[in-house]
Amino acid sequence: MQKFMIVGGNRLKGIIRTSGSKNATLPLLAACILNAGKSVIHEAPRLKDVAVMQDLLMYLGAKVNCDRNTIEVDTSSIQSVEISEDLMRRMRASNLVLGALLGRFGRVRTSYPGGCQIGSRPMNLHLKGLKELGAKIQEKFGYITAEAERLRGADIHLDLPSVGATENILMAAVLAEGVTTIRNAAKEPEIVDLQNFLNKMGARIVGAGTDTIKIEGVTQGDLKPAVHTVIPDRIEAGTHLVAAAITEGDVTVTNVIPEHLEPLLAKLREANVSFTVGEDQIKVQGNGKIKAVDIKTMSYPGFPTDMQPQMMALLSLADGTSIITETIFENRFKHVGEMRRMGADIKVEGQSAIVKGVEKLSGAYIEASDLRAGAALVLAALAAEDGTVIENVAHIDRGYERLELKYNALGARIIRVHN
Ligand code: EPU
Repeated sequence: MQKFMIVGGNRLKGIIRTSGSKNATLPLLAACILNAGKSVIHEAPRLKDVAVMQDLLMYLGAKVNCDRNTIEVDTSSIQSVEISEDLMRRMRASNLVLGALLGRFGRVRTSYPGGCQIGSRPMNLHLKGLKELGAKIQEKFGYITAEAERLRGADIHLDLPSVGATENILMAAVLAEGVTTIRNAAKEPEIVDLQNFLNKMGARIVGAGTDTIKIEGVTQGDLKPAVHTVIPDRIEAGTHLVAAAITEGDVTVTNVIPEHLEPLLAKLREANVSFTVGEDQIKVQGNGKIKAVDIKTMSYPGFPTDMQPQMMALLSLADGTSIITETIFENRFKHVGEMRRMGADIKVEGQSAIVKGVEKLSGAYIEASDLRAGAALVLAALAAEDGTVIENVAHIDRGYERLELKYNALGARIIRVHN
């Protein structure tokens, strides 16, 4: 277990570059299965979750080559269509290979991903969609088996706009016979990136980014190698913007698509954070006069659940009381207890956290329970008066490429301690 020791109170200053998006890269890697050939992905972030997805592809029999931020995947040699329990346990997003394996091989078997720290996260919508495409699904002894000689296009209406279910069904439908329509689809930018990659490969998809996606099925012979550059990580960029605001810093975050950050920027504006938006960069000049704002997490283009903990860290120092309501995951307030140890005044009532701004936070011995909770604790520690120790930073490494190096280059003082 590694930990961060953070000396707070330093204003961050300088330029920080955002890496490629984790949540776009994971489905892109899964999509490589479909073309039974070579694909190249540039700007892939060097993260633990991305490494697990590469391991998973190699476990299935693919050849994977990684050179800095470029990953080459050759899936022509895939032999297996079974995902082990171990890989499923290491990363929930392993379930993203289901649709592509089923589409290409007509069969997939995987262990059921259990609940995780942030919620129960069932798979019912993924499976319902695959069933509507004609797959026979069996759920036995904690394993799911899906089979279909060839999937058939269908009209699928999702009960809620699940990101993972939209991606899995989209990938499965690429090689289905006929047209598939996904209604009430998730609209996240990562889904648009997946559509763009698959279309480069020869798929025929329109509508990603809206709530209706249409996929005209093609055959394996229509698919060809594709080269793609991943979009910037909007959640990483958002975390940096809040880091600048919470330390009253002067930071330019580069490699961003400002439109993807608009749900966060709207709230930062309301909270009185000063920033200027360029074509592919955003400069924050923290003025220390944060105003309380209410936030409700929603699917894109609503406020992202993946930015809720970081925003809570900022609002814990605001002037006034903010109400933060989490509607996506049922267990995403685990950072609250840790922030309270740092002097924050936060009370949880059901789905909402009532955050009364305090004058200052102080250092404490705390623990990261999950990725975004961990990021939020780093931000709180950067603003705290004295030293903080954060245990279990492995969670943070799942989604941020050496966060301590990036922030130290801006003047933070973070030491990674190997136990
Ligand atoms: N849901 C169902 N049934 C399903 C699928 C989802 O009820 O079959 C529910 C979930 O339990 C949850 C809601 O739908 O309450 C939304 O879940 P969604 O499927 O959209 O989430 P996901 O695909 O599992 C992705 C990101 C998460 C991010 C969410 C929401 C990836 C790899 N993960 O998860 O990212 O929080 O969308 O935006 O893309 C993170 O990066 O820290 C992270 C957790």
